[in-house]
Amino acid sequence: MVLDRAVADIARFAIGFDHRDRARLHELWDRIFDDDRWSEGELTREFEAAWERWNGLPSVAFSNWSGAALAVLEFVGVRGETVLCPSNTFMAVPLSVLHLGGKVEFVDCNRDDLCMSFADFQAKAEQHKPRAAFLVHIGGHIAFEVEQITAYCRDNGIFLIEDCAHAHGAEWNERRAGTWGDAGVWSFTATKTISTGEGGMVVSRHPELVEFAQTYRNYGKPDYAVPGLNFRMPEFTSAIGIVQTERLDEIVAWKNAQAREQLDPVYPNRVVLPDGMTSGHYKYIVFDPIERSTGKVYDQPCHRILGHDVDLPNTDWIAEHHWCVPLYYRPTES
Ligand SMILES: Cc1ncc(COP(=O)(O)O)c(C=O)c1O
Repeated sequence: MVLDRAVADIARFAIGFDHRDRARLHELWDRIFDDDRWSEGELTREFEAAWERWNGLPSVAFSNWSGAALAVLEFVGVRGETVLCPSNTFMAVPLSVLHLGGKVEFVDCNRDDLCMSFADFQAKAEQHKPRAAFLVHIGGHIAFEVEQITAYCRDNGIFLIEDCAHAHGAEWNERRAGTWGDAGVWSFTATKTISTGEGGMVVSRHPELVEFAQTYRNYGKPDYAVPGLNFRMPEFTSAIGIVQTERLDEIVAWKNAQAREQLDPVYPNRVVLPDGMTSGHYKYIVFDPIERSTGKVYDQPCHRILGHDVDLPNTDWIAEHHWCVPLYYRPTES
């Protein structure tokens, strides 16, 4: 069947390099040789400017998501404080809080979007009086209850951090991930929709946080008032970030075309997006077992891994009942 063949084509595992980018990347790397600078140079500033244009917020590049998240959490001040986190996420999220001496309380997710449930968020916020909260956009779409969670955080003085590690290309009514909360934290590790090999980014509308992050990633230089460490992004990596950002809209458009035309007709029991939302399709998530799957987004919820005694029925349900259909960018075969 033609449809089966088409699905099989985009299902072949492929996370590699886009060989069309070779000349552009070499041109940028030549500039680094001319500048004789390994880090804190023009290319990092250009990557940040490109990300700011794409994301719509001042941006600070980091060597990975961890550094970006730690900078934001240190700015907020979470030692001894509670931070609400979804349990259906990567362990990076609670670990970053625990690393800085914060307390983690887990929140349940919804079954339709796999992201944090507003009802449980509100209940946990009233119970635990958190200083901050992580909202993770799982799978490449925007969390469906982002508006309610943002409004609640604003009204109750909770610092909201969006984990955008899956959300490259995600939009809702032309608003991009990272722009609802007080800060957005991105990852550009190797599996992401666009990648620098390793990399991260803080985005924020708060100028004090942007300045803090710039200092944090470089040991708090020059006056060491900020307790930072080394999370600088090398110039060679920043050059890859520039090239990848130039490709992002094309990758997301390609994935969306494949998803709508080839996958949606085959998989009716899937994450269905609300009106006006575009997913970046980091993942294509369905609720029935399938033969050729890349597996789950996460096999085990964080509250189970960390042994928290909390009842999160939707999170446990999701762990059992979702699968990812492979969808890898393959420009030459479109
Ligand atoms: C939701 C989420 N948060 C954080 C991270 C951590 O990113 P990094 O690998 O860049 O540290 C990842 C994935 O890698 C992730 O999927």
